[in-house]
Amino acid sequence: MAMLKTVILVGGPSNGTRFRPLSLDIPKPLFPVAGFPMIYHHIEAASKVSNMKEIILIGSYQKDQQLIKFMTSMQQEFKILVNYFQEFTALGTAGGLYHFRDQIQSGNPELFFVMNADVCGDFPLQQMVQFHRTVAEGDHFTLLATEATRQQSLNYGCIVEDKATHRVEHYVEKPGTFVSMLISCGIYLFGPQIFDHIGHVFKERQVELAYNLESKLETSNVIHMEQDVFAKLLSGSGLLYVYHTNNFWSQLKSAGAAIYANRHYLNIYKSTHPERLAKSAKDYPTIIGDVYIHPSATVHPTACLGPNVTIEKDVVVHAGVRIRESIVLEGSIIQDHCCILHSIIGWHSVVGEWTRIEGTPNDPNPNKPFAKIEVQDLFNPEGKLSPSITVLGSNVRIPSEVIILNSIVLPGKLLETSYKNQIVL
Ligand code: GTP
Repeated sequence: MAMLKTVILVGGPSNGTRFRPLSLDIPKPLFPVAGFPMIYHHIEAASKVSNMKEIILIGSYQKDQQLIKFMTSMQQEFKILVNYFQEFTALGTAGGLYHFRDQIQSGNPELFFVMNADVCGDFPLQQMVQFHRTVAEGDHFTLLATEATRQQSLNYGCIVEDKATHRVEHYVEKPGTFVSMLISCGIYLFGPQIFDHIGHVFKERQVELAYNLESKLETSNVIHMEQDVFAKLLSGSGLLYVYHTNNFWSQLKSAGAAIYANRHYLNIYKSTHPERLAKSAKDYPTIIGDVYIHPSATVHPTACLGPNVTIEKDVVVHAGVRIRESIVLEGSIIQDHCCILHSIIGWHSVVGEWTRIEGTPNDPNPNKPFAKIEVQDLFNPEGKLSPSITVLGSNVRIPSEVIILNSIVLPGKLLETSYKNQIVL
């Protein structure tokens, strides 16, 4: 039986800038959403596909203890080989794949998934394999796609398909004007022939670099799957096919998007892992909607949590606390009667008694079908900080009886007063 692999493109320290200050303390792909690292959800989905034999992470992060620990725990939990290959420098979404083509092809996988780390969703991977095998014969490739609103589609890779055959006719990355509401989810299913196509682009680049001295500065080794490879593929024969999904899917670029993803992954647990969701009981905190509490956390029975709250490892939540739509990271202490809404509390932070931490959600418009979360600029055109969720970096201390509203607090800060709409540096 033919075997499959999955490659997850995890990027490196130069990616994830819109995720700061949280990505200062942890590689963004390991940031926990709904109690588990972002790419845990990818690995779990991939491990369920029949004959999936190996998960390969490609990125430019150092292979440090944190990453090794994560990979070991994934191997044990999902009984699957997990490898990490480090790019010496960011080579782009296709360049990294091409660099490690021998490792990916070892053992002759029939097909392999390529997944962007910074997306989340209820990934229909087994269905994609099924579709791929039946939609055409030969050396074709399949993209996962979903719908966006007309205006939001401009921020994504837009696909025009032949509806009868599902063959991709055009692919335009972040078009200047409207092309299509069908957008790429950053999840691809390739056969080894993809390396021939990336190889052509690679060789062209080498020639450009060698001979075209004038534009040498603009030409680089970086190869993007979307702009460079798909464009080439489509100018030749129609080798790209598209599989549609209406399942939950979102990009995960900002801290606000992590709150949104947290809510959706908790909702998915209802059917996949009901045991992960907390339930109200006698002498237990009041639980509203979907809440994940790590078994090592201590939550006072008079606290009220939810909906859509994640309480991480070793967190202590004291009496009378109210938390909703928030993530409280490992080792934080939330003292008596605090109120935390639409916020992320960084690792080992302390929030004083009767303090209120509140952010503004930037959820998609519920009245617009297929609306996605907006990735806002940090500052609006008037130069003011755009209202967003409140984020405390790691080891922040917030005193008692203050209000922290729509603010971003950098790691290690000891605040003494209230803050509103500020970045506390
Ligand atoms: P932006 O809107 O600019 O973020 O573009 P995008 O949404 O198309 O994302 P991008 O192509 O930059 O990244 C998609 C995924 O690939 C993310 O999970 C990145 O971390 C990852 N990625 C991006 N560049 C590289 C790279 O050079 N090497 C590797 N291994 N991964 C990368």
